[in-house]
Amino acid sequence: MGAQLLDGAAVARAIRAEVAGEVEEYRRRRGSAPKLVAVLVGDDPASTVYVRNKVAACGEVGLRSEEVRFPATVPQEVLLDRIGALNADPDVDGILVQLPLPKGLERIPVLLAIDPQKDVDGLHPANSGRLLMNLPAPVPCTPAGVIELLDRYRIPIRGRRAVIVGRSEIVGKPLAVLLLQRDATVTICHSKTDDLPGVTRQADILVAAIGRPAFIRAEHIRPGAAVVDVGINRVDDAGLAASYLGKDSPRLRLMRERGFVLIGDVHPVEGMAQAGHLSPVPGGVGPLTIACLLRNTLRVARARREGAAR
Ligand code: GUN
Repeated sequence: MGAQLLDGAAVARAIRAEVAGEVEEYRRRRGSAPKLVAVLVGDDPASTVYVRNKVAACGEVGLRSEEVRFPATVPQEVLLDRIGALNADPDVDGILVQLPLPKGLERIPVLLAIDPQKDVDGLHPANSGRLLMNLPAPVPCTPAGVIELLDRYRIPIRGRRAVIVGRSEIVGKPLAVLLLQRDATVTICHSKTDDLPGVTRQADILVAAIGRPAFIRAEHIRPGAAVVDVGINRVDDAGLAASYLGKDSPRLRLMRERGFVLIGDVHPVEGMAQAGHLSPVPGGVGPLTIACLLRNTLRVARARREGAAR
């Protein structure tokens, strides 16, 4: 028996349709739509695609957007100055700096430089602190997407054991807070966790956010658990891809055409066999991250310009 797929792309379409309606209403009321600026530093192929997709998604729901690019060699002060200018520009509602930054640039000063009122990623400490205190704040997009996915598939959270593998500031930590707010019993695991399979097998809801392809195997998954795969890993070795997908997978043809396939943090075949619900990669959490970014852009614009709750 296979897991039921958690179709993030379908949930993302529903959220985007909701956002599009609200953007149109905002535009009619205020004369122009909210504007997002996405800053991309360097030319990492995955980040380049993500930013392109984010900007394209803005257009599809009627948001205005702009991509600002810097070479990987940009001095930190130049990047900070540009963020300062975007903060001061009244026409700019939301700012995001795509992560990870190239080597030589520090993430923390960059995140601190973004005006918390324009922080669509919810990564500024003023916003992560508000999240901890259960105050209205933009919620980081991927964790927000994971909660949406569970809710729209009516997977109960309250009282359930949730285990998150990965303690990043962008996914693991904020997701733990969101799940706690929903009355889950939450465990965060990481690279130093003793007996990882023993801990993850306790989970009713297992979230994999470590960035290692097919790391979560059958032994990590309690039969019937809801498994949410946050990982998006490019695998360019045909042998490895076949070992993850099975040698007859039609996706191996894509591998030959494009030179890589996207593999989540959960072993796709073993995950399907063991879980009750599983979010696929691609088509699971990825589209939801973008949908939640669009919603955050609308919300921060309303909050800053109209005093609405974020
Ligand atoms: N890199 C991977 N995910 C994200 C995200 O949600 N926001 C930003 N800024 N960078 C990312």
